[in-house]
Amino acid sequence: MTIDTKEFRNTVGCFATGITVITTVDVDGLPIGLTANSFTSVSLDPPMVLFCLDRKVASFDSFTIGKGFAVNILSSNQVDVSNRFAQSGPDKWEGFHYETWDSGVPILPGCLANIECCGHSILDAGDHVIVIGEVKNLASAGGDVKPILYYRGGYKEILP
Ligand SMILES: Cc1cc2nc3c(=O)[nH]c(=O)nc-3n(C[C@H](O)[C@H](O)[C@H](O)COP(=O)(O)O)c2cc1C
Repeated sequence: MTIDTKEFRNTVGCFATGITVITTVDVDGLPIGLTANSFTSVSLDPPMVLFCLDRKVASFDSFTIGKGFAVNILSSNQVDVSNRFAQSGPDKWEGFHYETWDSGVPILPGCLANIECCGHSILDAGDHVIVIGEVKNLASAGGDVKPILYYRGGYKEILP
């Protein structure tokens, strides 16, 4: 059976996810980030996570030089942050404040959770690669902070 790309997208889009911004730094230490919903946890011991990275994104090389990365899980009031980092190019950092922890990769404020990782491995997977990291630091907000949901190509909210 030949799988039509649009039908494939529509079908996998039935799986609701959260939204993250994955951040790192480039060779010059400048901030890099992109919106991604392909995040998942992998291993508990040691704690490991992954995301899938499109080979075509401008930030591809920065994520594969091994500087580590952070997963910033967005809260329901950060749709503007998701849209900002879904654009390509360095302008998306203009006027955007962030902190750093141990590795120096950007940690975005106001998130539901932040997870700082060192690079573990990168696996080939078609037109994407799978980036696996080992978790080194983390923080999460209180239980009343809600996530953004992404479902069938659109942002949704959890009902009260
Ligand atoms: C909801 C949503 C989820 C996305 N998930 C991913 C993803 O998991 N992996 C990926 O490589 N790009 C993903 N993207 C696309 C990137 O955010 C987009 O291509 C971005 O412009 C890349 O930035 P860059 O070209 O500056 O690197 C997603 C975009 C949106 C809106």
